[in-house]
Formats: sequence, C-alpha cells, structure tokens
Amino acid sequence: MQLIKLDATDSTNLYLKNLWLNDHPEEDVVVVAEKQLKGRGQRGSSWQSEPGKNLTFSLLKRFHNLDVQNQFHLNIAVSLAIYSVLKKIPIPDLFVKWPNDILSGNSKICGILVENILQKQQIQASIIGVGLNVNQTEFPGLSHVSSLKLITGQNRHLDELLQDILDQLQTNLQQLDIAGNCQSIPAYEEVLFRKDKPSTFKDAQGELFMGFIRGVSPEGKLRVELEDLILKDFDLKEVQLMY
Ligand code: BTN
Repeated sequence: MQLIKLDATDSTNLYLKNLWLNDHPEEDVVVVAEKQLKGRGQRGSSWQSEPGKNLTFSLLKRFHNLDVQNQFHLNIAVSLAIYSVLKKIPIPDLFVKWPNDILSGNSKICGILVENILQKQQIQASIIGVGLNVNQTEFPGLSHVSSLKLITGQNRHLDELLQDILDQLQTNLQQLDIAGNCQSIPAYEEVLFRKDKPSTFKDAQGELFMGFIRGVSPEGKLRVELEDLILKDFDLKEVQLMY
C-alpha cells in the first residue's frame, strides 16, 4: 500500500479521483492531509476539520469480485472496521448511524464518504474517505458533534490511529473482495443508531414522520416500520434521520 502525506489539498477523495483518472494504480493508495480546503461530506455537504488535529484521509482500493448490487456491503465493511478500532480504545456508547456515520452517544465523531468507480456491473475501485475527530475540542456552530479527546480527555497520536484503522480496513475489505459480500448485515444492525426506538425522520419533501428503524434491506436501504406497522425501505435521497 502506498501512503501519501500532504500538508494541504482540496479534498483527499478528489485527490484520489484524479490519481485514478491519470494512473489507474493497481496498488492501494492512501492519502492523508493535515488540511483540506474543500473537504466533502455526504449529501453534497462540506466537511470541516481543524488542521492538524484530526484524521482526514482517503483510501483508493481495487476490487476484483464486488458486484454493484452489493455496494452497501462495502459501507458496512468500512463502518464496522472503524467501529471496532474505536471500541478497543475504548470509546463508549458507539453506534453506526445509517448509512455510515460513527456516533458516541448522540454525537458524531466520524464521517465516511464512499465513492465507487464502476465498470459494467462491477465495482472496479472505491475511494473511501474518512474524517475522524480526534484531538479537536471546539466545534463552533455545530451540534451533536464530538471528538475522541472530548470523550476520553486524552490526546491521541494520529499516525498510530491511522495505522490501526488501515490495518482493520484492509482485513475487512480483503474479506469482502474474496467473498463478494461481507455477511455482516446482522453485526451492522446490532450497532445501528436508534434501532427499535421511536424516531423522527424527514422525507425528500421535508415532511417529518415517525417510525422505528428495524434494520437494513439486502441492498442497504434503511428499513423503517411506520405507524401503521408497514415496513418501508428508504434510500439516502428519500429519508434523513433526525436527532
Ligand atoms: C459525512 O459524514 O458527511 C462524510 C464526511 C467525510 C469526510 C472525509 S475527510 C477525508 C475525505 N475527503 C473528503 O473530502 N471527505 C472525506
């Protein structure tokens, strides 16, 4: 695996997208940046991180046996890799908020942005971007956000944490590439934020509704039981879980 360390870049995901377009590297590549000028999040949002305090990195991973239909298995493998590293620290009250935020209690500590490069029905490669709040202690203007330092009171060495995460990511992703799926939907559902609790959601029109998260569908849609006991599966564009 090649490791590229940068002082600053627009976005580590974007950096690897360009690398892919120019070089098509066979080897896995990790790019880690002290500072991102245009860090990107899910649903077109931005990702803010105090320079030098947190982990902001992306992994370009080649796949040989991963059908596009199983792309959510990639999100599961990545979420559970980071979850298990944080669990060992230990970080308390850990959850995965669908599709792949990592929370401690009610507060987000890690965001993940997976961007897949497809060829026909196969995932040829994936760019897996991770923003983990490590030593930052102030998040002005943001609510429900925390960091490992705020939770444990301790500063952490960024390089060591990065290595632990990369090792676990490689283990999970190699298994995924061999098997073609991660067989971990039950493990993912077990740590799903607000599972079986009455929750409020926002639909694509901005309307609020109540329901219970019951799990995910085989394609990774969020499975919600509505008030009339009907199960409905939602994709990312169709629903947002409110806190
Ligand atoms: C989210 O929760 O919205 C996803 C956030 C992902 C942020 C990381 S930081 C490293 C990588 N580069 C980016 O531009 N975004 C991801």
